[in-house]
Amino acid sequence: MLQKQGFLLLLALALHANQSHAQADGAGSTVPDTGKAGSPAPELILPIFEPLPIKNAAFWEQFTEDSKTRWKPSHATKKGDSDTARYDGEWAIEEVSKLAGVKGDSALVVKSEARHHAISARLEKPFDPAKEGMVLQYEVKLQEDLGCGGAYIKLLTAPFKGEFSDATPYTVMFGPDKCGESKVHLIFRHRNPISGDYTEHHLKHRLNPPTDNLSHLYSLAIQTNNTFTVAIDGSTQHTGSLLEDFAPPVNPPKEIDDPNDKKPADWEDDAEIPDPDAKKPEDWDEDAPRMIPDEDAVMPKDWLADEPLMVPDPSVEKPSDWDDDEDGEWSAPVIPNPRCVGVAGCGPWERPVVRNPKYKGEWFAPLIDNPRYKGEWAPRRISNPDYFEDLDLYKLTKIDAVGFELWTMQAGISFDNIYLGGSENIAAQLAEDVWKTKHDSELAVSEALHPKPPPPAKPAFYDMMRLFKTRFEEIGASIFSFYHATKNIGIISALRQEKSGAFAVAMAISGLSWLLWNLAVIVRFIFSLILSSSPAPTPGSTETVPAGNSASTGVKAGSSRSAATKRNAAKSG
Ligand SMILES: *[C@@H]1O[C@H](CO)[C@@H](O)[C@H](O)[C@H]1NC(C)=O
Ligand SMILES: *[C@@H]1O[C@H](CO)[C@@H](O)[C@H](O)[C@H]1NC(C)=O
Repeated sequence: MLQKQGFLLLLALALHANQSHAQADGAGSTVPDTGKAGSPAPELILPIFEPLPIKNAAFWEQFTEDSKTRWKPSHATKKGDSDTARYDGEWAIEEVSKLAGVKGDSALVVKSEARHHAISARLEKPFDPAKEGMVLQYEVKLQEDLGCGGAYIKLLTAPFKGEFSDATPYTVMFGPDKCGESKVHLIFRHRNPISGDYTEHHLKHRLNPPTDNLSHLYSLAIQTNNTFTVAIDGSTQHTGSLLEDFAPPVNPPKEIDDPNDKKPADWEDDAEIPDPDAKKPEDWDEDAPRMIPDEDAVMPKDWLADEPLMVPDPSVEKPSDWDDDEDGEWSAPVIPNPRCVGVAGCGPWERPVVRNPKYKGEWFAPLIDNPRYKGEWAPRRISNPDYFEDLDLYKLTKIDAVGFELWTMQAGISFDNIYLGGSENIAAQLAEDVWKTKHDSELAVSEALHPKPPPPAKPAFYDMMRLFKTRFEEIGASIFSFYHATKNIGIISALRQEKSGAFAVAMAISGLSWLLWNLAVIVRFIFSLILSSSPAPTPGSTETVPAGNSASTGVKAGSSRSAATKRNAAKSG
């Protein structure tokens, strides 16, 4: 990335030098510096637009001054289901205002929001994809973040007559669309050789377009073996077959269901039926209830059947000013009967219910195989009267014009560098020379405008060394205390005159850890040597322990640890 930018900058500088030179000579620059481009970051010098002539293209559009006569905005009326709308969205051929990557480079720009837009340009002569296949490539840049709108291109079927609208027949529609979710459309229209009707065939595969505000390149190649390839920014997104990857498929099935064949009225398609000979058993009582009162239950001894659940509150007295004639008969408010507390219950006792062993429910006859079952009914198959087989789908209908027919909520969609022809090589070359230069320059501008925060600085060498040394001293201290512990176990077992295996093992481990500890001391010494010539520690990187202290820290830690281990060893031994 860094290299690429450097290269770009060099290129830009070279171009700039060239231009100043030309001006100094009085020859004048071929590219007027209109200063219309969005202000790039001050230190960046953009590449300057040079038109690139190419031969053998059916259509090649870079939006230069003469393009203005070629592109014709439509003022047609769009007939919808409920309303009619006019194509009154405005277009301009101008330099982009956001993140311009190439100075003096104009594009076709959608200028109005929430309008129907249509614009088209005729080819010099109709293009026939049947000759050598078809390659279509164009750039899209969403200057304002696209919320809802189309950015796809249409290749208009020859002969193209009248005002361009959604009703104008097209051969291919290709490119991004976003409303809620975004996708890349690829639709071709195929003429049914029997009926002469056209049908739209949509790519089944889902492709996601980039949605940022840089220039992106959409490429479609249709080869003479019915293979097609969709690429975005020069990288292949999908390769497939025109015969297989589109819905509905172009070629209809050879056979179809006979629409006149109807299911006979007496056709039995139940594999099983209730056994007609089965009878409900005599003792099957469908009316027996599912639950019955439990006859074995007895009323609990402490159930107070005569006590009511609620009783008048004895603590409330009739108010002295209560007038029975006026206020009605006085009665105290009721409260839960205090005698019911702590007993099984009060009031009339009822038996709990249990499952009824005699319960059977509704009787059904068992199912048996249906003797008259004929299987699932399906209509007779007949040969399809509309059948045809077109194995040369790449021979799309001839193309008269290129156009954009869009609805969009956001203005600022811009289109540039439209190529239509038969050569994948030319398209690839254009991708490299035109699109990539522009895209990389836009990226550089974007990065200059929104610089990425610098990566966190790596700790300097000496800080790393200090960190290592601290860690190493910690490990050294552990080894030292381990050495003490094992040595003490060895001494204890020696005092008890246990000349057992445990003693030998303890002494061996103790010896080994003593060696390790000495090694640690040597390594620590080396660290100290390195650090003796070091500058002061970087502030904020203080994982450091003052030299000299560390050894005693290690010993102290070691002795307290070993004391604990000693106690433990004494207890267990
Ligand atoms: C382009 O898009 C990016 C992120 O999508 C945003 O941060 C930036 O501001 C946009 N630039 C312009 C010039 O709109
Ligand atoms: C179709 O042709 C293209 C190039 O012409 C080739 O790359 C591709 O492999 C071919 N595909 C098939 C399925 O033969």
